Amino acid sequence: MSQNEKMYVIENQQVSIEPEISGDRILDIGGGGEGVIGLCYKKKVIAIDPRKDELEEAPDGPLKIVMNARELSFLENSFDAVTSFFTLMYINKIDHKKVFNEIYRVLKKDGQFILWDTVIPKNDEVLKDIFVIQLEIKTPIKQIKTGYGVSKKDAEQNMDYFVNLGEHIGFKVMKKEQQDQVFKIIFRK
Ligand SMILES: C[S@@+](CC[C@H](N)C(=O)[O-])C[C@H]1O[C@@H](n2cnc3c(N)ncnc32)[C@H](O)[C@@H]1O
Repeated sequence: MSQNEKMYVIENQQVSIEPEISGDRILDIGGGGEGVIGLCYKKKVIAIDPRKDELEEAPDGPLKIVMNARELSFLENSFDAVTSFFTLMYINKIDHKKVFNEIYRVLKKDGQFILWDTVIPKNDEVLKDIFVIQLEIKTPIKQIKTGYGVSKKDAEQNMDYFVNLGEHIGFKVMKKEQQDQVFKIIFRK
C-alpha cells in the first residue's frame, strides 16, 4: 500500500470473474465504466447507471438504461440475479438500505444478489480524503487493469457491514469470501 498526499491507495488487488451466474436475466447495478458484468454475460444483462456517459463507455452487449439503484423502475420478481461490481462503494451509505431493498424487491424468489466490493478503512486521517483501489480483473474474455476511486468521507465499510445489512432486510448469505481488501458476498432471496 502506498499513499501520496491526498490519496489512500490500495494496490494490486486481484479479482476473478468465474462463469458462476445462472439465469437468463441479470440486472447489473452501476454497470457503466468498465462494465465488467456486461462484458462477461452480454445480452443476459440489463445494465443500469445514473450516468449516461458511464454507460456509453461500457462495452456493447447488455441493454443499457439510465436509472438510479435507489429507485428501480422494474416490477417485483423480475430478475434471476442482480450484481453489483464495485458500485456500492460509490453510493452514499445513507442510501445503502434503500438500494438493498430495491434489489430484494426486483429479484425472483431464490434469485441471487452477488456483490463484489472493497474494504474502506475509517477516515482517521484528514489529509487522505480520497480512497483508490487498483484492481486486476481476470474475466473469461480478457484481463482488465483499472482503478476505482471515491471520496473517503464517511465511506468506511467492510464485508460484515454488507452481510449484516443484507440479513437485516431478509437475504440469506450463501457464501462470503475475502481476498486481501476485496470481498464477494452471494446473497439469496
Ligand atoms: C466505477 S463504476 C464501478 C465498476 C463498474 N460496475 C464496472 O464494471 O466497471 C461505479 C458506477 O456506479 C455508478 N453509480 C453511482 N451511484 C449509483 C446509483 N445510485 N445507482 C446505480 N449506479 C450508481 C457510477 O455512476 C459508476 O458508473
